[in-house]
This record gives sequence, C-alpha cells and structure tokens, in this order.
Amino acid sequence: MRRPVIAGNWKMYKKIGEAVEFIAALRPKVAEASHCEVVVAPPFTALQAVAKAAAGSNIQVAAQDVAWEKEGAFTGDVSAPMLCEAGCTHVIIGHSERRQIHGETDERVNRKLKAALEAGLTPIVCVGETLAEREANRTHEILERQFSGGFAALTASDFSRIIIAYEPVWAIGTGRTATPEIAAQSHRYLRSLIAEKIGKSVAEQIRILYGGSVKPDNIQGLMAQEEIDGALVGGASLKRDSFSAIVNYP
Ligand code: 13P
Repeated sequence: MRRPVIAGNWKMYKKIGEAVEFIAALRPKVAEASHCEVVVAPPFTALQAVAKAAAGSNIQVAAQDVAWEKEGAFTGDVSAPMLCEAGCTHVIIGHSERRQIHGETDERVNRKLKAALEAGLTPIVCVGETLAEREANRTHEILERQFSGGFAALTASDFSRIIIAYEPVWAIGTGRTATPEIAAQSHRYLRSLIAEKIGKSVAEQIRILYGGSVKPDNIQGLMAQEEIDGALVGGASLKRDSFSAIVNYP
C-alpha cells in the first residue's frame, strides 16, 4: 500500500506572517487526515516559522529547491543541512519553473537529489513534458531522459526514500488538468522505467504524485486512479479551504 501524499507548493507566495496564519488555520482542518501525508512548501524565508507553527501537527514542511553542496561560495543558494536545521523534512527538486526559468538541468537535479538524500530529506522530484513535446508525441522520450539523467546512479534504497511528481508543464497554472487517464498513463510509464532499471518491488512502492491544476473538484477523479499516489498542488494550496478540501478528498 502506497500512502498518498498531498503537498502544497506555495511558489513565491506568502510572507512570514501570512504563512504562520495559514498554518494555524490549516491545522484543525487537516488534523483528522490520517489517510495521507500533508506537506507544505513555503518560500525559504518562511520555512523556519512554518515549521514552528506546524510543530506537533501532521503538517510537514518542504523547501522548493536545494543546493548540491553543503556550504561554500554559492551566492543565493541554501544547502540541505540548512533546510534540515530550519525544520524541513522534504524538498522539491527539478520543478519545471526551475528548469525553465533557471536553466536547471537533469545533471543538476541529480546532484541536488543526492545532496537531499545525504542530509536525510525526502526529495519530491518533478518531471514532465511541455505542450510542444506532448504534441510531438515525445512524452515518453522526455520522461525517459529526465529519469535517466535526474535519477542517475541511485540505489534501490535511495529510491525507497524518493517521491516523484509528474507535472506536465502544459497543465501547470493553466487550469488545464491532465485527465486522470492521461496522468495515469505517464505514471505507468515512469513506474515501468523504474521496474526495468531498478527493480519491480521498488517500482511498486515508489509514490508518484500528479501536479498541474489540481483543484477540490478534480482531486477525487485523479485519486481514483490506482497509479496516482497523491498531488503536488500549486494555486489551490494557497487558500486554506481549497487545500484542506483537497487533503480531505476521500
Ligand atoms: P498549479 O496547481 O497552480 O497548476 O501548479 C502546479 C505546480 O506547479 C505544483 O508544483
């Protein structure tokens, strides 16, 4: 049984005060949610305050990126041990906005993934094709490339600690959700890659989340797919009522 994960990626929204207020309001709304893990990913500046506000609750905290080195002359970067110190348990790696806006490559994703694992963080690694790639029938090719590069040289035990998020770029922030069947197809393909390259039991255990315009009114259809093990939610995670409705989907 794969335990579902509902994670909210706040992107570059919420100052510290708003973030703390949000957690105080969210806590009672998701306190009974024992069917899934609940994760929120605030901006770096709010991580520590959110971790404190969530202490003792079932809400876990993720960063949205991580450096691959522990420390050094890397202006603007934040390392995995620093994220742990701030109270993070998870970190999002390779989000399409980092790939597109900041030139994140599969090789960098791989280095960041290893740094996160070494520090004891649970990585949530994002993969997904653009609209042009989907329309050119290249979805599998892109997922294969992102998987081979991003997850290179990892062991089966590393995989047991990783969460994958399939986020088709054309569905992010567009209101255009992949149908549950389209999402499940890509999830199945990713799972088949893992089965082939790493092993069948690892592939059966790994959790693959769907991300891209997840809302309270489509979460049930998505979660009805056996292949979909949760959601990485952007816009709808910024409001207490919509995020708690998604968490409480069953
Ligand atoms: P939206 O839910 O706003 O489409 O964003 C998805 C996303 O990028 C989550 O990481």
